[in-house]
Parts: sequence; structure tokens; C-alpha cells
Amino acid sequence: METMKQHWTNRTGFIMAAAGSAVGLGNVWKLPYVVGHHGGGLFIAFYLISVVLFALPALVAEILVGRATGAPPIQAFGMLSQRTSWRWVGALGVVAGAIILSFYSVVGGWTIFYSALGAFATLGITLPGGLPAHASAETLSNTFNHFLGNPGLNILFHGIFMLATILVVRKGISGGIERVARVLMTILVGIVLALAIYASTLPGAQEAWNFMWSPKASDFSSEALLEAVGHSFFSLSVGMGAMLTYGSYLGKEHSIAGTSVIVAIFDTLVALLASFTIFAIGFSSHLAPGQGPGLVFITIPLGLHVLPLGSLMTFLFFTLLFCAALTSAISLLEVVVASFVQVTGMNRSAASVWIGLGIFSLGLPSAVSGSTMFFGQGMSKWIGMTWFDLMDKIGSSWLLPLGALGTLVYAGWAVSRKTKEKEILGDGSIPGFYSAWNVLTRFVAPIGIALVFLQLSGLVRLV
Ligand code: PHE
Repeated sequence: METMKQHWTNRTGFIMAAAGSAVGLGNVWKLPYVVGHHGGGLFIAFYLISVVLFALPALVAEILVGRATGAPPIQAFGMLSQRTSWRWVGALGVVAGAIILSFYSVVGGWTIFYSALGAFATLGITLPGGLPAHASAETLSNTFNHFLGNPGLNILFHGIFMLATILVVRKGISGGIERVARVLMTILVGIVLALAIYASTLPGAQEAWNFMWSPKASDFSSEALLEAVGHSFFSLSVGMGAMLTYGSYLGKEHSIAGTSVIVAIFDTLVALLASFTIFAIGFSSHLAPGQGPGLVFITIPLGLHVLPLGSLMTFLFFTLLFCAALTSAISLLEVVVASFVQVTGMNRSAASVWIGLGIFSLGLPSAVSGSTMFFGQGMSKWIGMTWFDLMDKIGSSWLLPLGALGTLVYAGWAVSRKTKEKEILGDGSIPGFYSAWNVLTRFVAPIGIALVFLQLSGLVRLV
């Protein structure tokens, strides 16, 4: 029955699901390539500052609002304040979720394709455009670009990825999402660590380390600043209600403070380790880090095929990346489905299928963005970016920071002190956490995010 409230089985279940949502393509695919694109350390510095000052407070705020109301975003924003117009913040999140999932699923499809290439290579079958053993960086880069330019294959794998997401969300909370996340997160941590250790033995390790930790002022641009801030929200899954929705299934006895900090640290560590691994492999083969969205798809086969059982490891890596992407995509779809079920009363299963199909269609132009078709090269010539880039920009750089700003102002100023204290202090918090969170949520984060937007609009010049 839809009216029966669902719950995580215990705190670990929630942490696993929340970490499953946070750790995804953002950590392994996106961060390395945007850092590469923006020249290195400065972007990482902005990202880390934004995680601590903006994204972590927003994460706490989301879980708090979710748990206090037990409702999905649109409804939750109308419940803790007299003003029902706050519901627009929830609605904005649902739109952001649909937009992000539409291109996220395309990249999810790439991970399935590469996992299939790895499987074929393991079996000794080399298809044209596959992963030949001991291929050079150039060959692997061609493989990726060929695949990207093929609309049919991209649509097919985007469809398979979306189908997998729908199948899990249909199953509901503890039966579907939690069970999948528990198993996958454990394996993922193991493989990320193992790869980072391997990468640190490569000749390019030192260069990778320096690249990540030496910010250069000359790399500054307002866009990079906004993108880094946007990425901190993207990576922690905040700003569109995913964590709010997950928080609504969290039992009252579990600590919001502790759980949020664990999820934030875990997500950031995975992102940094994955970036280091990818840069170390790249630098060892003289591959420039500014390769664009293909970076991880080129470096991983390149780095792994020199090892014994390299093709098998490539297969395993992309299968895991697919799983990490799936646990994030599930949370994106869950927000839209939960809100829709709430508003229309449709059953979860049917809503998952219909909304999944809708988002699949919205993702079609993104799936053909690597090709010569209009949404790819055509738009690129016209407005300087493909449909895929545009969706990423609107969803990640604009809507997430806006949604997070709305959530922070709501939690900071509209929600009563009594509710906040009950939620954060009532479950055994970390000493000093509540006061620090309060200052960040009411002042530091909203002002900081607003300044970033103003800097981008040219109204304010911080630097
Ligand atoms: N955090 C996910 C990642 O890093 C993406 C995501 C964004 C998931 C927003 C849910 C909400 O890949």
C-alpha cells in the first residue's frame, strides 16, 4: 500500500543508501574531467571549500526537513512554514532531478557499453571499435569518440540504463534501493582503494598529486567557481530533494549530524581517490587531463590493460561504475516518482514506469549530442554547447545551487528553532555541531552562494 510509510531497516541502511546516492558518476567520471578542463588544483580547492561551507550544511538541512515532515520535497517544503510558496523550492528540485537524470542516464549507458567491451576483450573477442589489447591512448580515444558519435548505440545503452533504474525504484525503499546499495557500496570502496594504491606506484603519480594540490590563480574564472560550487552539490546529491526524500524514511532515533558527516567525508574521499587514480594513469601515458567527458573511459582501459588480467579488471571497473551510477540514478528518479505519487495518488510501480519513460525521452537529445546531429554539432556551432552540455549546465550549475540556496534559507529562517533543535539535538548530535550548522545555514552558505551567482552575473567582482 502506498499510504504505508516506508523506512530504512537501520542506520547503516540509510548511510549506505545516502552514500550510494552521493557516490556516483560525479566522483569518478565528472570531477576528474572538470578538474582537468579547468586546469587543476584551483577547482579542487573551490570544490572542497564549498563541500564544507555550503554542501554539508545543505545536506543536514535536507535530511532534517525530510525527517521532520516524512514527506517528499514539494509537500515537505509546505509543511514546516506558514507560507506555502516554499513549495516552489521543492518543485524546482523535482525539475532539477528530471533534467539531471536525463543526461546522467546517457553516461550510465556509456558505463554499460564499456563494461560490455571489457567483457568481450576478456573473452578474447575484439570487435571493430572494441578494446584491443595494449591499445595506445590515441586508439582508446578514437574508440570513445566513435562510440560517442553513434546515436543508435548511445540511445540503446541510455535505454538499458534507464530500464535498470526503473526496475529498482519500482521495488520501493528497503526492498530495492537499500539492498542494492549495501552490496555495491562495499565492493566499490574496495576497488577504489585498490586502484588508488596501484596508481600511486605509477611514474605519473607525483605529477598527478601536484596537479591536484597546486592551485594556480591564473585558472580562475567565474564559470569555474560556479561549476565547482555546483559540483559540490551534485556530488553530495543536494539541492534537488534526493537526500530530503531519503531523510523522510529515516527513523527518529538516528543521528542526522553523524550520518551527514560520514556521508560527506566518504563521498569526498572517493572523489579525490578516483581523481588521483585517473590523473596518475593519464600522466603516466602523457595523456592531457583536459580530454573532456571521455577521460575516464580512455584512462582506465589504458591503465589497466598493462596489468595481468587487464581486460577482466576493465570489465569489473566499468561494471562497478555502472552500479555506482545506478544507486545515484535511483535517488534521482525516486524524488520525481515520490513527488508524483504524492500529488496524483498513482501507484509507485506505474509512476516509476511512466516517469522513467518521460525522462528517457528527455534524454534522447543528450544521447545524440556526441554526433553530427542538430543536438550535437549543430547546437555546438550555434550556442557553443551541445544539448548534453546545456542540460548539465542548467541542472548542475544553476538549479542545484539555487535549490540548495532555497533549502538553506528555508531551514535557516522559516523552520522553527524548536523543530531544528528536536531533530538535530534530539538524536544525540556531535558537540558544537548544531551551533556551527546554524551559523553556516543562516548566514555563511546563503551569502556565499548568492555572491557566487552575483559574481557570475558580473554584478559583483570578488576577484
Ligand atoms: N551525487 C551523484 C553523483 O555524484 C549525482 C546525483 C546528483 C545524485 C543529485 C542525486 C542527486 O554522481
